[in-house]
Amino acid sequence: MAISLPLNDFPELSLDASRLPQHVAIVMDGNGRWARRRGLARNEGHRRGKDSVRAVVEAARELGIPYLTLFAFSAENWERPSMEVDFLMRLFHRYLLTETKRLMKRGIRILALGDTERLPPRLRQVLAETVAATRFNSDMTVALALSYGGRQDVVTAMRKIAQRVASGELTPEQIDACVIGQSLTTGGLPDPDLLIRTSGELRVSNFFLYQLAYTELYFTDTLWPDFRERELLSALAAYQMRDRRYGNISPG
Ligand code: IPE
Ligand code: IPE
Ligand code: MG
Repeated sequence: MAISLPLNDFPELSLDASRLPQHVAIVMDGNGRWARRRGLARNEGHRRGKDSVRAVVEAARELGIPYLTLFAFSAENWERPSMEVDFLMRLFHRYLLTETKRLMKRGIRILALGDTERLPPRLRQVLAETVAATRFNSDMTVALALSYGGRQDVVTAMRKIAQRVASGELTPEQIDACVIGQSLTTGGLPDPDLLIRTSGELRVSNFFLYQLAYTELYFTDTLWPDFRERELLSALAAYQMRDRRYGNISPG
């Protein structure tokens, strides 16, 4: 069944509405290179990247994709020059302030993943307010991975599990893939069906590690500030060509 959308501006990219991914995760990379190629400061790339976030969130919502995770800032990105880190923190702050109304209108719930304790207090507060304000929205969930590291996520989960074992609530034998998955910051979200990474880098960069076990990977040279509806549709069309076997054999 072909889908019809505002995105039917792109008729060549028709999708099967019954086979859309439930959860798309995106490593939004390439803002700095986008700016450099234009002789602009890196921050201009980040600023433009914010427009891609709006475009992709709203396109995914129109398509009916229930979960979208955006990797916006990694645990390692704190090592960047403080000018850039400060700019990004202010950009996230502004994004939350300006987008809440649009998110509410579209029934989008915001979640925060990662070590949000490290974020500046003002941003933390706005983030908490956005999460609270949108918590009953049920048309789509957008998870923002901020100060997120895949290994840190696993470490935190292991500590939680160890505490439950130490307190006698759980026996070592009861620890299974489900207990571990639920103890991660993504507990409650389905594993991503599709991971998109922009900018041509072919690596995971400490994003979801445990969660990617059977995720389809899609890499594109497009830089994040240029990634809009059309690029999302192309990624989804590529996803729909994949044969997900999960270690089994194809039927027929
Ligand atoms: C992605 O773009 C944004 C963040 C990691 C915060 P980059 O800033 O990594 O851009 P490049 O990879 O240097 O081009
Ligand atoms: C990954 O991009 C993190 C985000 C997009 C938020 P990086 O630009 O930090 O990754 P590396 O340094 O190229 O691996
Ligand atoms: Mg990068």
